[in-house]
Amino acid sequence: LSPALTRAASLIRSIPDYPEPGILFRDITPLLADAEALRVTTEAIIEPFAGQFDVIAGIEARGFLIASAAAISAGVGLIPIRKAGKLPRPAASVDYALEYGTATIEMHDDLPAGSRVLLIDDVLATGGTLAAGRQLIEQLGSHVAGISVLFEIDGLGGRDLIGDLHTVFHSA
Ligand code: PRP
Ligand code: MG
Repeated sequence: LSPALTRAASLIRSIPDYPEPGILFRDITPLLADAEALRVTTEAIIEPFAGQFDVIAGIEARGFLIASAAAISAGVGLIPIRKAGKLPRPAASVDYALEYGTATIEMHDDLPAGSRVLLIDDVLATGGTLAAGRQLIEQLGSHVAGISVLFEIDGLGGRDLIGDLHTVFHSA
């Protein structure tokens, strides 16, 4: 990692027992609040995929924070993948497992056929969220050109589920 990225990583705050006992919450808000850290991480999340995608999709809610900055940096548009019930014309919907219960994400069909989509989220943990996002994009006939996250929590099985992905910071 470059000195600027190492400094950015140091701004991710780990909060024990939030939102419930036993969970170590990775809080990226101090990184977002720092101009240089926000810039270098935004550049790093898209860097390996330069020229390989036509649009960026981000997953509600924390994925939006990174994805919209990345879209502007890359000069492409943004597709929001939203939690169920928020979009007026969802074209596809995927259910996925959470630690407790299930959730649903939805997407509009505003992608030209054959679009190459870079899928972005803030954190990879079990991988359930990004796997559902990928399924959603593929259901609409688009191509997932890559998956990229700011922070990967190692040891929760996310990488096994997702396969090839780009990660800016690892927990280990
Ligand atoms: C968090 C995080 C990722 C996801 C990672 O989102 O922002 O999207 O969990 O976990 P996974 O790899 O086990 O699926 P959360 O569902 O807490 O909601 P938020 O982004 O709306 O805060
Ligand atoms: Mg999220």
